Amino acid sequence: MNTIEIKKDIHWVGARDWNIRNFHGYEVARGTSYNAYLIMDEKITLVDTVKEPFSNDLIDRVKSLVNLEDIDYLVCNHVEMDHSGAMPEVLKLAKNATVVTNMAASMGLKEHYDVADWKIQTVKSGDTLNIGKRNLTFVQTPMLHWPDSMVTYVAEDKLLLSNDGFGQHIATDKLFAKDNPIDIVYDEAKRYYANILYPFARQAGKALEALSGLEIEMIAPSHGCVWQGEEVTKIISLYDSWAKAEYKNKAVVIYDSMWGSTEKLAKFAVEELEEQGIGTILRDVKVNHISDLISDIIDAKYVLIGSPTLNNQIMPNIAAFLCYMKGLAPHNKIGFAFGSYGWAAGAIKDIEDVFNHLKWEVPVDKYCVKYIPNGNHKEEIKEKIRELVKSN
Ligand code: FEO
Repeated sequence: MNTIEIKKDIHWVGARDWNIRNFHGYEVARGTSYNAYLIMDEKITLVDTVKEPFSNDLIDRVKSLVNLEDIDYLVCNHVEMDHSGAMPEVLKLAKNATVVTNMAASMGLKEHYDVADWKIQTVKSGDTLNIGKRNLTFVQTPMLHWPDSMVTYVAEDKLLLSNDGFGQHIATDKLFAKDNPIDIVYDEAKRYYANILYPFARQAGKALEALSGLEIEMIAPSHGCVWQGEEVTKIISLYDSWAKAEYKNKAVVIYDSMWGSTEKLAKFAVEELEEQGIGTILRDVKVNHISDLISDIIDAKYVLIGSPTLNNQIMPNIAAFLCYMKGLAPHNKIGFAFGSYGWAAGAIKDIEDVFNHLKWEVPVDKYCVKYIPNGNHKEEIKEKIRELVKSN
């Protein structure tokens, strides 16, 4: 199996998961990879592993470079099983390896695996491990996105092994971002942030602060492509913008519809938003996955959500999206709820309740239409949109 040298004597030895399409609820249309890196120094060091079913991919790649008994250290940056799943198999062969990880991860490993025979050395933020010509510095990034999350910095190579941070769910035989359609790589990085890291904006800000003193010319995450040169500056700046919840003059209108009434209202809202000069995206929740919708809203100022009333409830697809969004907790948005009903209105309040839970601004009261919207309703919802835009 091939390996890829990303820096002199530092090799990608991970695995590509071409066929995965669902990553704990997040739709990953392009598959993913589990990146692990082998540093060939006086002390041979493996940084992270792969998901358990891909253990042999990792082991075969490492074997093509070195005997596993010769590995001195196995750095575990994060316990989640897409990165630690192969550890039991690897450590059966790498009998001389010491696991290097932080205290939270050490406890997490004990709760995942039988670690009785493992040698574990714990480190904390700022600790350095000399492996010969290189020094590895560990920076804990707690809750980005697990309590145990950590990154490893190789000062001599100006290389950040960033684990989940800066990752993208892409399976590609071209490891470097520059060798792939770059807009797709950035878009997948955005989807990754929105679907995995969104709830941890404060921690992301702290992590970026902690990393700001480091000279970084390459970021090698544990999913997707490796960033180099100007891409490093750009992806860090995008993370900074997402963590600060910066937005564009953009609206996303998300709806479901039974007999077309809520859809009509959604389209009237889009018409007015466009007339107000606001770039607008319209999404029917029936045909757009919730993980795409959350990525759409990350840089939007306005989020409009519409639903008919079904059995005194909002539509299940809208409820599922609201539940997903509530967990990911986007902030700094302006919300507006709308919809239609037959004989009992009121369910639309559930949408506004989520806006309020997320502490969004809701400057204009919800708008509901009985049965079929007519020309007057069109003017009324357009007036609501004008008020919404004027309100800030
Ligand atoms: Fe890629 Fe949190 O695991």
